[in-house]
Order: sequence, then C-alpha cells, then structure tokens
Amino acid sequence: MAPIFKPILSASLATLAFTHAAPAHAPPTHADACGIIRGLNATAITCKHVVDLYSAIPFDNNLASTTLSTMLTLFKDFYVFTDSALSPTATRPFSDDPVDIIAKMEKFGRTRYTSDYQFHTDIHNAVNIDCYLSYSFVQKLSLYAPVVDGKQDALTYLKSYARDVIGRSHDPNARLNSLLATLGFEKEKGIFTENLGGFALRMTVPEAPYVDYQLQCPHLTQPVNLRDDYLSPTETAPASSQNSAQDKILFKPIPQIIKRAESEPETVTPGHQYSGAKQLLAGNATVFYHLKDRPDTGVVVCHTFHVEEEERDVMMEGLEAFNRRNVTNIIVDLQGNTGGYANYAAFLPDILFPSSHYLPGSLTSDLRVSKSVQQISAKGYNNSQSGFFDASSFINMNNGSSVYQNNDLFDKPVTITRNGRTNLWTEKTQPYSTEAPANYFADAVPFPWSDKVNNIRVLTDGLCGSACAMSAYYFAHRYNVPTYSTGGTHGEDLSMFSFAGASVAELGKVQNWYKTSNMTCPMAEIPYRSTITFSWLETYGEGRSTPLEYDAELYWPTYRLDYTPANAHSREAMWKDVAAASWK
Ligand SMILES: *[C@@H]1O[C@H](CO)[C@@H](O)[C@H](O)[C@H]1NC(C)=O
Ligand SMILES: *[C@@H]1O[C@H](CO)[C@@H](O)[C@H](O)[C@H]1NC(C)=O
Ligand SMILES: *[C@@H]1O[C@H](CO)[C@@H](O)[C@H](O)[C@H]1NC(C)=O
Ligand SMILES: *[C@@H]1O[C@H](CO)[C@@H](O)[C@H](O)[C@H]1NC(C)=O
Ligand SMILES: *[C@@H]1O[C@H](CO)[C@@H](O)[C@H](O)[C@H]1NC(C)=O
Ligand SMILES: *[C@@H]1O[C@H](CO)[C@@H](O)[C@H](O)[C@H]1NC(C)=O
Repeated sequence: MAPIFKPILSASLATLAFTHAAPAHAPPTHADACGIIRGLNATAITCKHVVDLYSAIPFDNNLASTTLSTMLTLFKDFYVFTDSALSPTATRPFSDDPVDIIAKMEKFGRTRYTSDYQFHTDIHNAVNIDCYLSYSFVQKLSLYAPVVDGKQDALTYLKSYARDVIGRSHDPNARLNSLLATLGFEKEKGIFTENLGGFALRMTVPEAPYVDYQLQCPHLTQPVNLRDDYLSPTETAPASSQNSAQDKILFKPIPQIIKRAESEPETVTPGHQYSGAKQLLAGNATVFYHLKDRPDTGVVVCHTFHVEEEERDVMMEGLEAFNRRNVTNIIVDLQGNTGGYANYAAFLPDILFPSSHYLPGSLTSDLRVSKSVQQISAKGYNNSQSGFFDASSFINMNNGSSVYQNNDLFDKPVTITRNGRTNLWTEKTQPYSTEAPANYFADAVPFPWSDKVNNIRVLTDGLCGSACAMSAYYFAHRYNVPTYSTGGTHGEDLSMFSFAGASVAELGKVQNWYKTSNMTCPMAEIPYRSTITFSWLETYGEGRSTPLEYDAELYWPTYRLDYTPANAHSREAMWKDVAAASWK
C-alpha cells in the first residue's frame, strides 16, 4: 500500500479570514442586473450594464476565503519569485517598485469588500486570475506609433496607464507597446492583420465608458474633438478550467458580434500582401519572405513557438528556398511571439549557427524548495504524471548531462538569501530536453549565412516572451547577433523581450499532481470558473547569478527602432528599415 502522507497545512489556511469582511450575503445593489442585460438588444448593452451585472454578485466570505487561501498557499509554496520581486533597485530598461505579493494578498484578506467583483478585480490586478472576463470592450480608434516628435499628451496618458495597469513586463516601454496596435501574423488567412492593442481592446471593464480624443490633423488648423465609446461589450469565451463541476457562478450572456466602424482590410491573397516582399513558404509557426528590392535578404517570421517537430522541416525548406534565390542575409522577425516549445526556441538560433550548435535547449535553472515541493517530489520521482517536480526529468549538472538517478535535487537543497529573505532552492540544474537530430545542422552548414554574425539580424519587440525570449536571448548573448527592438518611446530604452526567465504552470496542474500521487492537496479548488497561473522555475543567463527574469542588462537590444506611420502598418516597411540599417 502506498504510504499515506500527512496533508500539508500551510499557515495561511489556519489564519486566513476576512477580518473586516462585509456581511456574508450583502444584498445586490441592482435587483435584477442579470435579467436586465438579458432583455437588452445585443447592441444596446453598455459598460454600465456589465458593471451592474458583475457588481450584483454578492460578496461571499466563505468563497472569497477559499480563493484567497488557495492563492496564498500557491504563492507561498510554489511561486519562484517571491524573494526576487522584492528587489529595491530596478535598473534600465526596468523600472519596477519592489513587489511583496504575499503581503499584497494578505491585505486583500483585511479589506472590506462589498462585491465579489471588487474582490476579484483586486486579485486580478495582483496575479493572473481570469475571473470576470466574460465581456470584452472595443474602441473604434486604435492607437499606434506614438513615438513621433511633438507634443504628446496622449503619450503621457498612455505611459502612466501602462505603468499602473499593465503587468506584462518589468519595462514600462514594453508595457506601452502592449497597449498599441500591432501587426500579427494570422495563420488561417496567411497574412498580417492588425491587433488592436490593450488600450482599444479591453478584457476588463474600462475606467470610463468612452475616451475623449483631441486629434490634430495635418491639413486642419483646429483640432478635432472625438468621443470614442467603448462599443457594446461582446461576450468572450469562458476560461478553460478543470473546475467546471464546481462552478458557482457562470455568466451566459447574450452572444453578439461587434463590427468595428472602420472597414476591415480588404481581402488579401496570402503571399501577395506586400508588393515588395514575396511570401515563399508558410508553416504553422514560420513564414518566409524574400525582399524584392534587396534580393540578398530573406526574412524568417517566427510568430509562435507552439509548433510540432515537423516545423523543423519547414525551416529547412524555407532556408533552402532562400539559398536557391541567392539570399545571403537573414532577418529573423520575432515580434508578437509569446512563446511555446522551448526546444524550438533553441533550434531556431542553432540552425543559423549550425557549426557551433549547442546542447541542450534550456538555460541553467533552479526551483524553490518548500515543504510542499519536497513532499510532492518524494512521491513524484520518475513519475511522469507528477509533472514538474520529478527529479528524473532534470539534469544532474554534477554528472555530465545525465538526469538525476534519485531525488537529491529536492532532498538536498541549498540556501539562498535574496533581498533579505532566505529560502531553500535546488542546486543549479536544467530541465532535460532532447536535441534536434544532427542531420539538420549538417545540412545547414553550407548555407551562405550560416555561422556568420554579420549576415543575421533579429527583430523583436518588448513583448517577445517566454520561449521567444529564450530564443532572442540565445541570438543576442550566445551568438552575439545584433538585435533590433521596435516601439517604445523615442529616445528611451526598450527591452528586446519580456518575461524570459521562468516556466509558467497552472494551479490545476499542481492540484492534479497531488491527486495522482494520492496526497491531500493543501489548496482547495477555487470556487469560480477560472485559472491561476504562476512561475515555478527560474533560469539564469550564462555565467550570471541574478535570475534572468530580473537581470535587466540582458534585456538590452543592440538597437531600438521607432515605430513610424509606415512601418507600424507594414512589416515590409519595417524589414526594409532593418535591412537598410544593417547592410549596404
Ligand atoms: C433589436 O435590434 C433589431 C436589429 O437591429 C431591431 O430590428 C429591433 O427593433 C431591436 N429591438 C429593440 C427592442 O430595440
Ligand atoms: C500544422 O498544423 C496542423 C494542424 O494542427 C497539423 O496537422 C500539421 O501537421 C502541422 N504542420 C507542421 C509542419 O507542423
Ligand atoms: C543565383 O546565382 C547564380 C550564380 O551567380 C546564378 O546562376 C543564378 O541565376 C542565381 N539565381 C537566382 C534565382 O537569382
Ligand atoms: C523509471 O521508470 C521506468 C518505468 O517506469 C523504469 O524502467 C526505470 O528504471 C525508472 N528509473 C529510475 C531511475 O528509477
Ligand atoms: C551519473 O550518470 C551515469 C549515467 O551517465 C549513471 O549511471 C550514474 O548512476 C550517475 N551517477 C549519479 C551519482 O547520479
Ligand atoms: C494511488 O492510488 C491508486 C489506487 O490505490 C494506485 O493505483 C496508484 O498507484 C497510487 N499512486 C501513487 C503515485 O502512489
């Protein structure tokens, strides 16, 4: 019989309560907000209707306590950056204040909430929880390229909004990028289309139902005043969840479709979107363009790392097509790529530097070792179902590149003090990964750009994250490839990537590990349909001692490129900017 483990009781469970909580069943302020919104024509729904609907859910002390206690245990026992985030000095391009996530959550426990929505809004602003995201809100006007010279009141506004509201990067200019319209590659259509950006498209209720703009048009002396309403909120897909049986509250709003007032881009045949760049080939993650005015230059767009292994063959086909067309210079465009498969993130730089390609496809890492992690790992050794805390899936760096033959990784932790806090960590390790077959690299060696740093450029933005960030890191720091980062603010720093130094997991995964190990999970299921994501493993730049996530210097690109009215609307224009700056 399997040994019975004592359930792990986190202190938070015992002490947690809403000490000044409102009465458990405060009456809703809007008698029938749900009925009202249901009776409305789809186009008549306003921000206020949604706020009324959300606010009508009474605050329930028990439900909220369960949510908060689960979150506190998750972050105390499994989150990897509790200590690093306390760092008092952020250096450029970062500008963060220290964050004490545990203290922040404990403060929610002492707050007097009147609605569940208010409670969840606070949580949403602190950690990644997706509750109350049933509607999205869209403006007609989407903003781009605010880096031109001149008076920039709107830019000032956007920058403070980016600083206060957006949490995607430690770099305020990368956060600014996430508010602006960008071009993203749409796989189904085979073309670049406009993503509205986080200011014009909101997943949470906007601060006001409209934005007043004052537009200064070049041919008019008087400014044009424009009030842009957030259009009737539109239903969004409910969050995926392992907890659906537990759903206490689930909105089923009226399905509706929003038409933006602007015309959609006219139908474009894939491959013919840009007159000056021919699309040669498109895989699931990579697209290959050949610049007509610069026949020596090819562009590899890699818009995601969520790929199958076959994407490596697409890469080889694309590179061979370049070679047949006598391409010698390569631009790798990683804009808008928010990650995926880490092996492919290593393959992309390696295939362009095939002679020195490098094993393995991950960076030096470590994990925080709490009592909970130790107990899971003790049961999880060599058990693929136990997920991330299985030492047999990590390389024992004291023993070549072989994986751990026992649970020493978690049983023999080391002590690290960061920002005045001491915790236990694993020794340095690497998640085990398999390398691409050697024939890919052998086949790539003869290409004219291969292993030549002068023939390769990387184009990225502050939002290239996760596996994309790893890829950009390898290009920049392992192979010394010059990088261009687009957007941000004229004259200021901009990161080449965002969250780079960690792996992210979901609460449901951890709960499931407990289940498959026959252990009692110290975290109750959250009573709402939602997921919480958190970082569980941190990585380091080669030879560095600060986790990459906080190692600001490694985020500097070689060059920053302004968005312009031309290149913000056309990738072709942007590729030409990079090629012109890089090669005669
Ligand atoms: C709802 O919208 C439809 C189509 O726009 C319109 O024909 C109808 O009169 C509207 N109903 C109400 C009650 O406003
Ligand atoms: C692309 O995706 C489709 C659908 O998921 C899949 O069937 C196909 O094998 C993928 N192609 C490559 C090259 O990975
Ligand atoms: C590539 O270069 C070779 C040798 O100079 C030439 O014969 C061939 O026509 C060129 N191919 C293309 C597509 O330009
Ligand atoms: C891991 O599990 C596999 C199959 O369950 C077994 O063959 C192998 O010997 C185990 N390895 C170790 C190091 O325990
Ligand atoms: C070191 O790795 C080898 C396989 O490469 C393995 O046989 C041996 O048990 C490992 N030693 C330790 C201490 O893990
Ligand atoms: C959990 O319990 C089940 C049923 O008793 C058993 O089949 C399974 O092997 C146990 N799993 C572990 C990891 O002990």
